[in-house]
Amino acid sequence: MTISEESEASETPEVPEVEADVAEVETSERKRYECLEDLPGVGPATAQKLQEMGFHTIESLATATARELAPAGIGERKALDVIRHARGSISLSFVRADELWKQRQSILRLTTGSQVLDNLVGGGLESQTITEFYGEYGSGKSQMCHQLCVNVQLPPERGGLNGAALYIDTENTFHTERVISMARHYDLDPEEVVKNLIVAEAYTSDHQIFLLENADKIIKDNNVRLIIVDSLTAHFRSEYVGRETLAMRQQKLNKHMHKLIRLARAFNAVAVVTNQVMAKPDVFFGDAIHPIGGHIVAHTSHTRVYLRKSARGPVRIARLVSSPYLPNGEGIFKITENGVEEVDEAERGKKR
Ligand code: GTP
Ligand code: MG
Repeated sequence: MTISEESEASETPEVPEVEADVAEVETSERKRYECLEDLPGVGPATAQKLQEMGFHTIESLATATARELAPAGIGERKALDVIRHARGSISLSFVRADELWKQRQSILRLTTGSQVLDNLVGGGLESQTITEFYGEYGSGKSQMCHQLCVNVQLPPERGGLNGAALYIDTENTFHTERVISMARHYDLDPEEVVKNLIVAEAYTSDHQIFLLENADKIIKDNNVRLIIVDSLTAHFRSEYVGRETLAMRQQKLNKHMHKLIRLARAFNAVAVVTNQVMAKPDVFFGDAIHPIGGHIVAHTSHTRVYLRKSARGPVRIARLVSSPYLPNGEGIFKITENGVEEVDEAERGKKR
């Protein structure tokens, strides 16, 4: 009782002050800041420390927590202040549902290269959220990622976002040649296409985390509209072996995924991760194939698509397994020399 009274009493005088700060940012015509040093209370030394910690842009500060900024030597109050100003600058705040609806209008859609697949996920992959492709070896996850790197560069009328792509490659599977042949198929200049494609190879799970933590400036400077992590889980799976490491693995994966969501939101980008599967030998009914990563990955991937091979060589079956607002369903597409393509009517008639 005494403690709560005491803390209440000691906190009360501060409340109006905090509110005053909020009001200031809300009412003054929201000031836009270009770089960290422009923010009130951030000097060159603090800015440098923040950059070393992976905060290079106002956008990344706007989605940071006060605790995350502590290692830069910023006290909690000052951190909250900095975050508030950063939020004011990019207008991130509490919103009413009608405003949220407006915000959703800013969501962009990226074509997969297959109309069937686009329809399955509600008209293309959505910006500001994470789409996960999971499936067995050779099911087409990395091929899909390569295709998206080309598609994102298309103008909106062709299903693209007029943007660049960032590809975090954890299994050394990225092939420039493959992107070039896909670009040629779209009559795009391959040289231009590969210039708008930033590839970062991640050698370990910590390296993978580090790359994403430091990606904000690259994303901003290059107009990146597609962030890929292929594969999300491979390093984690091979490095964290045994039950005793599970909690640590999940904690790191969780933070990694949340960083990805925040980048996708801050830059209105499409985020795509790939994931392997494992068979659960103890499942007798239903699907014994499960994606790696447990609840953490399941809950942070907004849209999950399960890819599998079919008996017919290039044809792949995509199943929408989870979406916040779409019914589950299935569709087929194919992977050819050209990339991700529609299965035409004649082929569709044949048995899978
Ligand atoms: P893992 O990363 O091993 O889990 O698999 P993945 O799901 O990423 O598989 P990936 O996307 O690498 O798919 C490989 C498959 O795509 C190959 O087995 C081929 O069937 C197909 N593929 C890849 N490149 C080409 C190509 O140039 N032409 C054609 N026709 N098919 C290709
Ligand atoms: Mg792959």
